Amino acid sequence: MVTAEVAEPVPAQTQEERFEAVIAAEQRIEPRDWMPDAYRATLIRQIAQHAHSEIIGMQPEGNWLTRAPSLRRKAILLAKAQDEAGHGLYLYAAAETLGVDRAELTEKLISGRQKYSSIFNYPTLTYADVGVIGWLVDGAAICNQVPLCRCSYGPYARAMVRICKEESFHQRQGYELLMTLMRGTEAQRRMVQDAVDRWWWPSLMMFGPSDGDSPNTARSMAWRIKRHTNDELRRRFVDMTVPQAQHLGVTLPDPELRWNEERGGWDFGEPDWSELTRVIHGQGPCNAQRIERRRAAHEDGAWVREAASAYAAKRRAEAGTRTADEAQHTPEQENGK
Ligand code: 3HC
Repeated sequence: MVTAEVAEPVPAQTQEERFEAVIAAEQRIEPRDWMPDAYRATLIRQIAQHAHSEIIGMQPEGNWLTRAPSLRRKAILLAKAQDEAGHGLYLYAAAETLGVDRAELTEKLISGRQKYSSIFNYPTLTYADVGVIGWLVDGAAICNQVPLCRCSYGPYARAMVRICKEESFHQRQGYELLMTLMRGTEAQRRMVQDAVDRWWWPSLMMFGPSDGDSPNTARSMAWRIKRHTNDELRRRFVDMTVPQAQHLGVTLPDPELRWNEERGGWDFGEPDWSELTRVIHGQGPCNAQRIERRRAAHEDGAWVREAASAYAAKRRAEAGTRTADEAQHTPEQENGK
């Protein structure tokens, strides 16, 4: 007697297994795909913080728009601030694909329930700060954000491609402004050095706490949201920036900065982590002012949102009427029958 071999039923891939397989294959998770709740929550947290940083980040430099030293500098600064508004917009749109609403995210920012980058809580005291923000802050942003173009979540990764291109322009305009100042008077060179002294350590803190104190890194890396740890990116930034500082002729305010032959990179001192903690928790020099200004701008913009919603509703109603008319307008009528 021949007995038919019964094939073992192949277990259907669970949603979780499919998700893990997409991540492992370096493919992208898209908005309609199943994803673990914690992956979604991590992305919403990071993308929202990133979007808020872009929007709040317009304030420190916006402070100088009316006092730019020439029409050319004003046009450049205005273009940069407008780029940042655009970055905020792409990022809020990317967050919305995860099922949150932009209005809800703004509300969370204003009420202190969501964060934005520590770097934007420092004051801009002179025009050299505009150059140093471009060089160091946008330079750090590029270092942190280029790997995000390979993030596993499609809409965030795609938004980052354009953002990084524009950040590159921001970084170059900052460096060019500083080169111009360094070719100027002794007072201008002192102004640049003073700005570098104030912005260096806060720029290093932008990368987040050291790896041992970063609760989110391991999981975000496993999900390929983050591609490098905070310390790896901070080191990369220092290695990239030291030669630029030398070329510019400024001194970075770190007595421990020295070339490590063995590693082929620069060793540097430890940022003051207690300062980062204070700034993240609202006690930086400008936190209250930044949030207050954001709240006022949001309230002042209420009429624009209302007008835009009313216009969208009118367009929808018109489109609805047109569709109903078209349904009544039969092909016989068309042929004059
Ligand atoms: N400022 C404020 N909060 C910070 C921070 C900083 N510099 N660094 C870390 N934190 C927060 C984290 O958000 C986290 O808090 P949470 O759990 O409540 O969200 C906590 O400190 C612990 O940090 P982790 O390292 O565990 O957090 P992450 O894994 O999320 O890493 C990050 C932090 C490196 C900033 C990461 O979120 C990231 O790469 N974000 C995307 C880039 C970004 O947001 N950049 C904003 C600044 S630059 C910019 O956008 C404007 C440009 O024009 C200059």
